[in-house]
Amino acid sequence: MKRRHLSLLVALALTALATSCQQKTIAAKPDPLSRAYDVESDWNDPQKQIPLNYQQAQGKRVFYTYCVWCHADSSPAGPSNRSNLTPTPPLANDGATFNPLSDEFVRNTITLGGSAMGKSAMMPPWGRTLKPDEVQAVIVFMRAIAQPSYQPPARPGPQYSVK
Ligand code: HEC
Repeated sequence: MKRRHLSLLVALALTALATSCQQKTIAAKPDPLSRAYDVESDWNDPQKQIPLNYQQAQGKRVFYTYCVWCHADSSPAGPSNRSNLTPTPPLANDGATFNPLSDEFVRNTITLGGSAMGKSAMMPPWGRTLKPDEVQAVIVFMRAIAQPSYQPPARPGPQYSVK
């Protein structure tokens, strides 16, 4: 083999080596999606990250599958349907609306739908779609992102609470 060819070969090998090293550095970066359910950005302050425990993370998954279309201003598919609805559904982080409501009342609204609770029938019933633990998970997710923040009651409320 000619000397020139050999040096060309060495140069090629070195480039390949350098590229493979570079690829390793890229591969070492954490996959942004692998942690997508561990945190939620504060809806009022995107700089702030709210850490989510396992149940809250399950709730985030439920929320972004079923509820985001009406209870947020933007959805993974683009603009949300929220502004088209009357009454306008409360934003999921609307603490002023949700904090005074007991878990029981919220659970019944989600499971049975708005009309069963004297609210608008535009809020669908989810009892045949979601399992009870998924309903509970989406409630704790909404509690976690609430603004102003949610303080759980000191003692459990009555099971058939009017609020
Ligand atoms: C098709 C649109 C739509 C979807 C999807 C939807 N909602 Fe609603 N939701 C509404 C509307 C409209 C209201 C307001 C009802 C009212 O105030 O009369 C509402 C109200 C509520 C309330 C009661 C608020 C209150 O003041 O009592 C809760 C809780 C709630 N939604 C949770 C959820 C959850 C959790 C999901 C997903 C599993 C969901 N919603 C999906 C439209 C929707």
